[in-house]
Amino acid sequence: MSAALQPPALELRGVSAGYGRIEVVHDINIVVPAGSVVALLGPNGAGKTTTLSAIAGTIPLMGGDVLLDGQPISGLSTYERTRRGIVLVPEGRSVFPSLSVEDNLELVVRAATNNAQTRAERLAEVWEIFPRLAERREQRAGTLSGGEQQMLAMSRAFLSSARVLLLDEISMGLAPVLVESLFDAVQQLRDRGKTIVLVEQFLTYALRLADLCYVLGRGRVTFVGDTGEMRSGGGGDYLQIPDTAAAR
Ligand SMILES: Nc1ncnc2c1ncn2[C@@H]1O[C@H](COP(=O)(O)OP(=O)(O)OP(=O)(O)O)[C@@H](O)[C@H]1O
Ligand SMILES: [Mg+2]
Repeated sequence: MSAALQPPALELRGVSAGYGRIEVVHDINIVVPAGSVVALLGPNGAGKTTTLSAIAGTIPLMGGDVLLDGQPISGLSTYERTRRGIVLVPEGRSVFPSLSVEDNLELVVRAATNNAQTRAERLAEVWEIFPRLAERREQRAGTLSGGEQQMLAMSRAFLSSARVLLLDEISMGLAPVLVESLFDAVQQLRDRGKTIVLVEQFLTYALRLADLCYVLGRGRVTFVGDTGEMRSGGGGDYLQIPDTAAAR
């Protein structure tokens, strides 16, 4: 079934947001079907990170509503949104540099469950998705390569009780081979039932994976496409999306 036919896990209805009194994104409408990958594309400064911040609640809305499973969450704190299953993996990595890879993950699974067996199973899942991290489980997180730290940040989000993952430019500054394995991992997270909003400048990777894509320009949605359907036949529109990474 097309991802577009699933009920929305997340929805932005006429969302406006910005910084201080300056509105940066204007009247954004986005639907993220449950269990899908939705790509949020667009050039530098288009408002992609701002949109994710509005979803995560790290900046207040200036208008509109964010809905999780059909319920408005715009009034909830970031903490409460995290508790309900929305987790942001921000630009730049968020790991504890002085702790080992395994301890970084232990901290999250311990918060999620007291059951040692369940914890071990969840960690085993991470080692399966990210074999590179398994090899480096004793290594201090701060000494991992950029891509490996990004994998660790994603693993932490995966181990939390997150249902909706907001991934902000996980490919930033990484070699193509690492980008490939990160995107493989995103696919595996989707296969395990996560709903994912993926901000990307590398269209090729994002469109290969995404079910739907939204292109932002100057704080507005300028294009919406069902990439799943485009891949399976139709959709010359696919070709009209500017490759923002190439345009830089
Ligand atoms: N904390 C802030 N205070 C004021 N303006 C900001 C702040 N953060 C971002 N902006 C401005 O908001 C606009 C959108 O920024 P945003 O970070 O959302 O873009 P982006 O699409 O994520 O870009 P990039 O691809 O470069 O990460 C930009 O003009 C930026 O300068
Ligand atoms: Mg950004």
